[in-house]
Amino acid sequence: MNRILVTGGAGFIGSNFVHHVVRHTDAHVTVLDKLTYAATRESLAGLPEDRVELVVGDIADASVVDPLVDRLDPATDAVVHYAAESHNDNSLSDPAPFVQTNIVGTFTLLEAARRTGVRFHHVSTDEVYGDLDLDDPKRFTEDTAYNPSSPYSASKAGSDHLVRAWVRSFGVRATISNCSNNYGPWQHIEKFIPRQITEVIDGRRPRVYGDGLNVRDWIHTEDHSSAVWTILEKGRIGQTYLIGADGERSNLDVVRAILRHFGRSEDDLEFVTDRAGHDRRYAIESGKLRTELGWEPTYQDFEAGLADTIAWYQAHEDWWRPAKAATEAAYAAKGQ
Ligand code: NAD
Ligand code: DAU
Repeated sequence: MNRILVTGGAGFIGSNFVHHVVRHTDAHVTVLDKLTYAATRESLAGLPEDRVELVVGDIADASVVDPLVDRLDPATDAVVHYAAESHNDNSLSDPAPFVQTNIVGTFTLLEAARRTGVRFHHVSTDEVYGDLDLDDPKRFTEDTAYNPSSPYSASKAGSDHLVRAWVRSFGVRATISNCSNNYGPWQHIEKFIPRQITEVIDGRRPRVYGDGLNVRDWIHTEDHSSAVWTILEKGRIGQTYLIGADGERSNLDVVRAILRHFGRSEDDLEFVTDRAGHDRRYAIESGKLRTELGWEPTYQDFEAGLADTIAWYQAHEDWWRPAKAATEAAYAAKGQ
């Protein structure tokens, strides 16, 4: 890959991917990002200017997207599509931007890929498959039926279906990945792990929805980046690959690990109003990606990855502090 257009590259996972590409490849990156509340320019600060360019704009605006995709060479370049409205709780309060960005935005990019023939990778989520019971021995695979629960996951499912249709009907050269819950640096403090880390730093109690037994399958965002790069280089066109690192943990277990790390009592937490339609459990079977493309995660020890992440939030208070009071006020208004 010579040049990559990374949408959403100033957000959590997208910016980590841009750092990964700069560290591990020679590719030039153009980031297209609307700089919503979830993005920060700081996440791209310090990257070499001759390797990374930031264009501020909306993926749903063809007048912005088309000239950027036109600059790419279909023989050597690619679009990697991360941009999305990403938070389930926000989608329950106001679904409109989720439909606009996740569905109309993906449509706009796909039309540009169709016109130019450029390679397209669509970054999606395991939430499109709905949820599993806690005692279900099954995990999600590429053959699991779509069954999304929230406006967020429904909009991501819609975007996946558009990609599949553009591959089949128009021959767009696309791949899709569906990944489980990411953790690591630059994640907005509205999300579970950074919210609880910053609550504990502030001397408050972590807030656990419902009974706290919901399970998420955690993967370090660096492993997500290496998986996406692997798919970009070696993935078969038209295929979907599930990305996961065997990181299933209940929310209570995660919160207790954070409390332990800070030397606080494991019971020093608060149960709060549950999320409407709250998915019970996600679990990824990533055998296809590992066997077919030879990918393996490097962060095999969740507690060590969590400790690194806690240290990062301790060292970057100037980054997250400005958003903290408003984020907590919005949660408090919902009893969360
Ligand atoms: P994020 O909310 O941190 O970042 C999203 C980025 O997209 C932000 O920089 C934002 O400014 C940008 N954006 C939003 N609307 C835009 C628009 N209309 N035009 C251009 N840019 C726009 O999200 P994230 O957690 O980094 O997730 C990135 C992608 O990965 C999403 O597609 C998400 O569905 C997927 N994903 C996330 C996870 C996870 O655990 N967070 C897991 C699997 C898949
Ligand atoms: O599975 C992949 C998905 O993971 C991504 O597609 C989404 O973009 C990403 O936000 C994430 O979705 P979740 O809803 O699982 O993540 P969130 O961080 O919002 O919540 C994780 C779990 O923690 C979930 O069961 C809800 C719970 N929770 C969350 C918050 C913010 C709490 O118990 N307390 C909280 O304060």
